[in-house]
Amino acid sequence: MIIAPRVHVICQSFHRPLETELQFLMVAGARPNFIKIAPLIKAAEAYNAEHGRAAVHLQWRLVHTGQHYDEKMSERLFQELGMAPPEINLEAGSGTHAVQTATVMCRFEQVCLETKPDWVVVVGDVNSTMACALVCAKMGIKVAHVEAGLRSFDRQMPEEVNRLVTDALADLLLTPSHDADENLKHEGIPEAKIKLVGNVLIDALIANTAQAESSQVMEDLGLQSKAFAYVTLHRPGNVDQKETLSGIMCHLNRLATRLPVVFPMHPRTRKMLAQFQITPPRQGAFHLLEPIGYHDSLHLTRNARFILTDSGGLQEESTYFRTPCLTLRPNTERPVTVTLGSNRLTHLNRLSDDIGEVLNSDDRRGRVPPLWDGKAAGRVIAALVEHDQLLRR
Ligand code: UD1
Repeated sequence: MIIAPRVHVICQSFHRPLETELQFLMVAGARPNFIKIAPLIKAAEAYNAEHGRAAVHLQWRLVHTGQHYDEKMSERLFQELGMAPPEINLEAGSGTHAVQTATVMCRFEQVCLETKPDWVVVVGDVNSTMACALVCAKMGIKVAHVEAGLRSFDRQMPEEVNRLVTDALADLLLTPSHDADENLKHEGIPEAKIKLVGNVLIDALIANTAQAESSQVMEDLGLQSKAFAYVTLHRPGNVDQKETLSGIMCHLNRLATRLPVVFPMHPRTRKMLAQFQITPPRQGAFHLLEPIGYHDSLHLTRNARFILTDSGGLQEESTYFRTPCLTLRPNTERPVTVTLGSNRLTHLNRLSDDIGEVLNSDDRRGRVPPLWDGKAAGRVIAALVEHDQLLRR
């Protein structure tokens, strides 16, 4: 069911026959959210199948806010992840931060009024995450935040503001790593609300290993395993200033003379290149692509000689595959990818040196952090049920 502004009758409320019914909305707005929601849906289905009608029965609906709407950023991902199209789509689309956040809020409030959920589950740190958490806080609807507690300590990043607000409002904070627990305790969040569950993004990765293995993307591009660089860059800090973006493109141009570079381009980056009239490199060894699918991306991450990125998800996926990763950012909210994993922070000023160092070292490094075991979503659902029962007493 689509909820657009012109649609008046929107959606039916959950029917509430049983006290043992736990009814919740799952919210996903942007590409990384869809990947994290997929294992949660599977875990909720598994919970119902395992516990039968005698125990708590879960009923949920998926709400797509429409923050990402391009076919390659949204629909294709749903198909690859084996998810049914969302029942409710807010079609919020792009805009300034205030416009996008406010649009999601207005439309999501309407959904909450109609469906009256017990809980809303939000994931990650995008504008949709914060917008929906804020709606719930005002309406007295309980919020569970999956991937809570991550902090870059850099409020210039919109995601950091989204994380701080969402965590301050959430009733249940489900964390991927110990550092996240520590951050939350430091901010005064009661320990009873915090539950370390592990990394749901890695659940999705593990569930999609076989399909990723059969990706043809390397054959299509003529790439050899461990003999190419995989690049993704889309953060405002890297792409919204002309000087920075053209500096990055110069580096990539040079890199492509040493080994093939694969760069699937986020719409934001493509838009900024056009706006600044920067001509992307077109050498044979430089593969500038449209956004690629999830399985192709996993395949490239596993097989790349190294990754250059500013994406949170790629920092984690490369850590899981032990593929060296250079993150072009002054900080990371995922420190475990640096302390345990294969990730290193880099800067435009020392990018050449850091790339040289990576190319001269092992093609695998680091280790997989604790609880990145493919079972995090099951722990999320168990924690949600347990917490709900506690609050009902
Ligand atoms: C958003 C998240 C970011 C996440 C990223 C993953 C926020 C603040 N940022 O950034 O944390 O890492 O998603 O991809 O929530 N656009 C399209 N088609 C789309 C979506 C976007 O063309 O389907 C273009 C539009 O020009 C839009 C721009 O990309 O203005 C930025 O989109 P937006 O959703 O605001 O932020 P992202 O950069 O995608």
